[in-house]
Amino acid sequence: MSEDQKRSDRHRDGLARRDFLRIGGMAGLAAGTALPKRLAPTEAAAAEAPRYPVVDVAPLTKLEPGTTVDFSYPDSDSPSLLVRLDGPADGGIGPNESVVAFSLLCTHKGCPLNFKSERNMLICPCHWSSFDPAKAGRLVIGQASDPLPQITLRITDGIVQAVGVSGLIYGRHTNII
Ligand code: FES
Repeated sequence: MSEDQKRSDRHRDGLARRDFLRIGGMAGLAAGTALPKRLAPTEAAAAEAPRYPVVDVAPLTKLEPGTTVDFSYPDSDSPSLLVRLDGPADGGIGPNESVVAFSLLCTHKGCPLNFKSERNMLICPCHWSSFDPAKAGRLVIGQASDPLPQITLRITDGIVQAVGVSGLIYGRHTNII
């Protein structure tokens, strides 16, 4: 065998060994021995979910039909309103599922809404969009296009608490800032 042939054989053997080691290493990774732990889909969703504060809003016993309570949620720059309606409401809690709460910022251009008890509507004084608190803040009429963000409520030891927001509060990229 010539010197050139011997050099060529050594080079080929070297390549074969490197390929073997590379493939063997990938097989080890594929078996999961060297991969970092991955979160299960539900764990990942929980990790990405915004962490809303728990805020006491009012004692349930104080909420007669027609009662409203102003509060801020999820922070002091976000005016919100709790209202006990005469009848059941989508997402309502308490007696007859009649207690609901919403962001008070109109989804059109952010004007603070007023609750008109005679019409059971949240109405914008700027361009007169009207939102129905019994139907998860659905737009009834007006220039807005989105429903009102609804505050998620719960009752703990007789206290109505705010614990989350469904929908994006006007002017925000995320509800928790
Ligand atoms: S800001 Fe409310 S309708 Fe325009």
